[in-house]
Amino acid sequence: MKLDECSAIVTGAAGGIGYATARQLLREGASVLLADLDQKRLDDAAGRLATDTGADPKRIATIVCDVSREDQVAAAADAAIAGFGRWDILVNNAGLMSFKPIEEQTVEDWQRILGVDLLGAFLFIKQAFLKMKTGGTVVNVSSVHAIRTEPLVAPYAAAKTALLSLTRSAALEGKPKGIRVNAVLPGAVDTPMLWDNPNVRSGAETINKADIGSPDDIAAAIAFLAGPAAAFICGDAIRVDGGRLVRL
Ligand SMILES: NC(=O)c1ccc[n+]([C@@H]2O[C@H](COP(=O)([O-])OP(=O)(O)OC[C@H]3O[C@@H](n4cnc5c(N)ncnc54)[C@H](O)[C@@H]3O)[C@@H](O)[C@H]2O)c1
Repeated sequence: MKLDECSAIVTGAAGGIGYATARQLLREGASVLLADLDQKRLDDAAGRLATDTGADPKRIATIVCDVSREDQVAAAADAAIAGFGRWDILVNNAGLMSFKPIEEQTVEDWQRILGVDLLGAFLFIKQAFLKMKTGGTVVNVSSVHAIRTEPLVAPYAAAKTALLSLTRSAALEGKPKGIRVNAVLPGAVDTPMLWDNPNVRSGAETINKADIGSPDDIAAAIAFLAGPAAAFICGDAIRVDGGRLVRL
């Protein structure tokens, strides 16, 4: 298989796009460390992944890791290397969204979102650059909010836009190390994050049914960018939104 012998860390892997990505990487032969906030959800995800993919449970590991905490991120990198003997793929998928008008937002609101959606990716990329060997790959999960956005989500849109900038910077600095860095920009994806969005609930953000993708649609693009078929793609960002943003 394409990713035989590889080992991956997927953040925010207990559900949604992260879970689907872990499943796709397992199907392609990788071993996967699932990183998320809650051990119970992680255990449940690991059990379902083993059943879904038929993978040897030894290829699935879990770690409680808040991506905004440098010590926990370093521990996750070490756990992947200790558990699987190597670390080849990093998927920075963990993400948070908040909904408030700018005049009600606090510095703490911004720090919470930037801490996870931007600094979490920085902290993991730092570990990757310190600990991955040549041939490693990183995929950052940004959003179409990096290009066009809506009211009430300023910290999220700013973080996802900055994540594209970080993708370019990291691609430049990763290249001499033999580490490729790219990003995906999901559109509307059928996960709790979409349906919990008050703008979607209220109808302020309208989404055509045909513009709603599945977590597997995003996972396929992430696995492609992480794998050998994308060997010459570096510092790029792929929109995976079913064409939603190109419509007039
Ligand atoms: N669903 C969409 O429509 C959509 C669209 C564009 C981008 N995205 C992005 O895709 C990624 C995955 O989103 P999803 O839709 O699967 O959402 P989700 O809420 O189902 O999953 C996000 C996961 O991240 C985890 N997480 C949150 N904070 C964390 C932290 N500090 N440390 C570790 N894990 C943490 C959560 O526990 C959760 O399991 C996010 O980065 C999101 O911004 C989603």
